Formats: sequence, structure tokens, C-alpha cells
Amino acid sequence: MSKNVAVITGASSGLGMEFAFQIDLLFTKIDEIWLIARRKERLVELSKLLETKTKVIPMDVANKEDMDRFYALLKQEKPKIRMLINCAGYGLMGKVSDIPIVKQLGMIDVNVRALTNMTYACLPYLTKHTRIIQLASAAAFLPQKNFAVYAAGKSYVLSFSRALAEELRQKHIYVTAVCPGPVATEFFVHADTYGHSLLMKEKTMVTPDRVVKQALHDSHRKKQVSVCSPLMKAFMLATKILPHRLIFFIMRFLK
Ligand SMILES: NC(=O)c1ccc[n+]([C@@H]2O[C@H](COP(=O)([O-])OP(=O)(O)OC[C@H]3O[C@@H](n4cnc5c(N)ncnc54)[C@H](OP(=O)(O)O)[C@@H]3O)[C@@H](O)[C@H]2O)c1
Repeated sequence: MSKNVAVITGASSGLGMEFAFQIDLLFTKIDEIWLIARRKERLVELSKLLETKTKVIPMDVANKEDMDRFYALLKQEKPKIRMLINCAGYGLMGKVSDIPIVKQLGMIDVNVRALTNMTYACLPYLTKHTRIIQLASAAAFLPQKNFAVYAAGKSYVLSFSRALAEELRQKHIYVTAVCPGPVATEFFVHADTYGHSLLMKEKTMVTPDRVVKQALHDSHRKKQVSVCSPLMKAFMLATKILPHRLIFFIMRFLK
């Protein structure tokens, strides 16, 4: 009989690792958690801390050969994927002209293309009441100067996830796009490489624990979008009701 599986990408750190801990604690019907990221040693260490059986899958989600192997693994194991959590991703801040194009295209490869590919790969193995959780960002709500490619990619994730939620609704498969503001993870070790920092980062930072708790709660409530802090909810609302040009103008004066 096929196993009930939770697939988590980006499990070696930050939000992905936190999802692994909380799913391990809360979801007793999950037989196996599949932990995906490039740093194998981190995944092995994490698997030792979890009660649930795990499968460590060290791979680069943007690499074609690695993804081909993942498709083959799915075909071989035919799991019942009860949860798919797409966390693998990164962002680089800086002007479009200042970040090497290879790095900017790399962001699109991981955050956009690989997330789409991973979702597509898992679709045939989803069953009634499966949850898909996609890590978008509050950056998805508004174009962001000095974070242009990342924010555009996250807008894609938000739009893709909501469309997919509508496509899968009648199959009782629920998709939630998670849109946090700054979260205290290793994300910013890479993000600040080109010398730019996020507007009001310190004042708005939340913990991964809080984001994941809210995401699992919102996924359970079949919500298409999960936003964890009141400040980010207000930001989302503002981007819906105010002209973006006005918000850009206001943001020029914020530090
Ligand atoms: N932290 C924030 O402020 C924030 C806010 C909004 C949204 N998000 C989003 O949340 C998600 C998780 O970020 P985080 O904050 O948890 O950052 P993080 O701590 O840096 O974790 C990123 C994870 O992605 C994995 N990853 C990156 N590139 C990969 C690749 N090519 N193949 C496989 N795995 C890859 C990393 O593992 P390896 O390096 O081992 O491969 C790591 O496990 C991202 O999509 C991010 O955009 C973060």
C-alpha cells in the first residue's frame, strides 16, 4: 500500500525546516516526510530530530537531472502526497543593474520555474484533502525597487497558486500561498549580498514558528492566501485599495 507522504522543499533551513518540525508534531497520519534541499548533511541532522520516518533527498530543485531523478522516484514509490510544501527559494536585494544577470536568472529558476516543476511533478500523486503550501512573500503584493526580480517572481507564485487552487477545488485539494514579510531565517545572509537591505526589516521581522503555525492553520481553513502579521495584512490591503504610484511615493520617505 502506498505511503502518506509530506514533501518539503527547502527543508535544510528556515521555514522549510520549521514546517518539518510542526508537521512531525501535528500530523500523525503522515507516514513519511520527504526532506529536500541541496545540503544533505543538514537534512540528515534534521531527520534525526523527527519522530516521523523521513526520506532525505539531497537535490537542486533547479537542476534538470536532479528533477528527472525525482520524477523517477515518484513513479517508483507512487506515494500518496498529503502535503506539498514548496519552500526552496532565495532573494537577492539590489538594483537590477547591480546584480549579475546569472544570479537574477538563477532566482527565477528556483523561485518560479522549479516551484512550478515540483508542483507539476507531484500533481498525479495528490489525493482528496491534500494541502499544497507555496512560499510566496509579501513582496508579491507590490513591485519592489531594489528587489525587482524577487518580487516579480513572488507575484508569479501568488498568482499561480491561486489559479491552481481554483483548478483543484473540485478535487478537494487546497492550495495556500504564504505571504510573510521579513522572517528571521538564513534568507538575509544571501539577500543582503549586494549591499541593499529591506525597508523596515528589523521593525517588521517575525519568527519562522509563527509564520508556519499561521500557514498550517490557514491551509486547514482552505484559505488561498496566508498572511501572518497585522502589519503585513494592512500592507496587503493598502496595495489593493491605494494606487501603487501613491505607495511608491510614500515609500520613498520611509527608512
Ligand atoms: N525569510 C524571509 O524573510 C522570507 C519572507 C518571505 C518569503 N520567504 C520565502 O520563504 C522561502 C523559504 O525561505 P527561508 O526564509 O526559509 O530561507 P532560508 O533559511 O535561506 O531557506 C531557503 C531554503 O531553500 C533551499 N534552496 C535554495 N535553493 C535551492 C535549490 N536550488 N535547490 C534546493 N533547495 C534550495 C535551501 O537549502 P540548500 O541551500 O541546502 O539547498 C534552504 O533550505 C523562500 O521561498 C523565500 O523566498 C522568506
